[in-house]
Amino acid sequence: MRPYVILNAAMTLDGKIATRTGSSNISGKEDLERVHQIRKGCDGIMVGIGTVIADDPRLTVHKIDARPEDNPVRIVVDSRCRTPVDSRITNSDAKTIIAGANEYKEEYMKTDAYETLKKRGVKFFFSGAERVDLKALMNYLHEEGIEKLMLEGGATLNFSMIKSGLIDEISICVAPMVAGGANATTFFDGDGFDEMDDAVKLELIDYYPLGKDFILNYRVLND
Ligand SMILES: NC(=O)c1ccc[n+]([C@@H]2O[C@H](COP(=O)([O-])OP(=O)(O)OC[C@H]3O[C@@H](n4cnc5c(N)ncnc54)[C@H](OP(=O)(O)O)[C@@H]3O)[C@@H](O)[C@H]2O)c1
Repeated sequence: MRPYVILNAAMTLDGKIATRTGSSNISGKEDLERVHQIRKGCDGIMVGIGTVIADDPRLTVHKIDARPEDNPVRIVVDSRCRTPVDSRITNSDAKTIIAGANEYKEEYMKTDAYETLKKRGVKFFFSGAERVDLKALMNYLHEEGIEKLMLEGGATLNFSMIKSGLIDEISICVAPMVAGGANATTFFDGDGFDEMDDAVKLELIDYYPLGKDFILNYRVLND
């Protein structure tokens, strides 16, 4: 069993979710409120360690009316447990799970960072050899009561998740901007597929303008 997974992101018209320097301020006010509404309806919000290091996100519900108990569990996919102890994702606003890989478990558990985060109530889950086993992680999150999970990037984790057939829905905000740059971060990076025939197929289920932006919702056709 695994959670139902909704991937949400904001991209420029040319498919970039951040510039080559890591700047990622894309959504308009209305879209940010929409994102927080989705967060409020989910049991967990997951990001990759690249996003934590680049953006230091809070991953709480704070742009709409919400109670502390509306905050979903925050999950960082972080094989080498590099999540900085002072990152906002580990504050007391919500529960946090750091998902690491087995190769790094023993050494990490000897560190001050581990002790500090454990005292703060952060939970740890280890799977996979050198990289987090996403299927095992999904299974664990479901066992932890996370039935609906919001995936909020970044590009590398998005591709691993969709390639593994672990995303059910995609909600994308397309902003009327062009960032350009071969080295800018796209919605899905990773290695990509060699053949277009292998590309993951989607079904458009909804679309509408929102402020300056445009929202597209897709169902992922996993086989
Ligand atoms: N516009 C938006 O909506 C939006 C949303 C989110 C992020 N972003 C942007 O995206 C950028 C970050 O994206 P990113 O691609 O650099 O990082 P990322 O996808 O957030 O994190 C990738 C990292 O996750 C770890 N990981 C562990 N197991 C993995 C697995 N099985 N598959 C994939 N990754 C795994 C890897 O590091 P380890 O091997 O060390 O574990 C990997 O390098 C930032 O610039 C951020 O601003 C934009």
